[in-house]
Amino acid sequence: MSEIYLDYNATTPVAGPVQEEVTSALREKWGNPSSGHRLGKMAKDALEYARAQVASLLNAHPKEILFTSGGTESNNLAVTGICQSMTAKGRHIITTRIEHPSIMNPCLHLLEQGWEISFVKVNSRGIVDPMEVERALRPDTVMVSLMLANNETGAIQPLAAVSQVAHRHGVLVHTDAAQAVGKIPVDVNGLGVDYLSIAGHKLYAPKGIGALYRRTGGPLGRIMFGAGQEQGLRPGTEPVPLAVGLGAACNFVARDIEAEAERQMGLRERLYAELLRLRYSIIRHGDPEHTIPNTLSVSFVGRNGAEILNRAPEVMASTGAACHDRTIKVSHVLAAMGISPEVALGTVRFSLGRGTTQSDVETAARIIGRVFDSM
Ligand SMILES: Cc1ncc(COP(=O)(O)O)c(C=O)c1O
Repeated sequence: MSEIYLDYNATTPVAGPVQEEVTSALREKWGNPSSGHRLGKMAKDALEYARAQVASLLNAHPKEILFTSGGTESNNLAVTGICQSMTAKGRHIITTRIEHPSIMNPCLHLLEQGWEISFVKVNSRGIVDPMEVERALRPDTVMVSLMLANNETGAIQPLAAVSQVAHRHGVLVHTDAAQAVGKIPVDVNGLGVDYLSIAGHKLYAPKGIGALYRRTGGPLGRIMFGAGQEQGLRPGTEPVPLAVGLGAACNFVARDIEAEAERQMGLRERLYAELLRLRYSIIRHGDPEHTIPNTLSVSFVGRNGAEILNRAPEVMASTGAACHDRTIKVSHVLAAMGISPEVALGTVRFSLGRGTTQSDVETAARIIGRVFDSM
């Protein structure tokens, strides 16, 4: 039986048109963008074209885009860079317990250095109340970091409202948008955020490239020291073919982002309906109205999600965040939503993508039904 990939939140394949752009850049744009000769200029032009493509997807200015190696680096640069440039104001950060480790761990590192962190609670659907953010604000708060979409449940946070609240108090806002960009329209001005992280491999670009959006004038200290590339904030010779790949991917997803979101949402609901037909006790995590269109997180009550997937190796999905290792531990995201360990343990995250078809979701549900029959 053929395999069905339903793990697009873990990573995506590199889209065909993106592969072509990257391959051509590998062949022809191999110069150093800092070199003054023809090959250097070609590479520099390709880099700046890619930057403009990324900016365009986010409704940002190209100068506001810094290329990084991916979501983890963008998040580390944002948290550490913002905080260290704001110590004159204070040493207090607001975030949540559902963030990716690439936010959580730099925050915990700052905690060790004497910073204070307020973790704003999420409700049972995994969503933050902007009023709770307002209550957590203090005169010494320097930053709110709140993810736009969660990798495990797909929950979308009310970033525009949170930005408004934070800005009323002069506090900077960062969002980890690694799971949102490419799946739903993301507009930095609509959201009102000051910083936004992107991971290329979540939107059909190669691994090893990402970006950090920084609103013009936004303070940002250095976490790496070298030459002056990327405004001195991400020194090192730029990986032009990878940046070209991210730019091409932004262009690729932008063309039909809303239609594709509709299509994937339809398939996701079909998958959910098929799973319900199995007449097994299922709990759906999150609120479908406030979830990225491709993500379905369900718990098969009384079962172990990892065991289900082990018995159905053709269905490639995930039991928690795929960035972590394979050891079974209750997800920190579900725990923060107040979901019991027993229910959390039965959770499987299905994440659909551009390659997913109706036959994929129907077959996946059938295979899982067969697993239940044999358990
Ligand atoms: C929400 C979120 N942020 C950040 C990351 C890290 O991105 P990268 O793997 O590019 O470092 C991930 C990856 O799973 C993610 O889901």
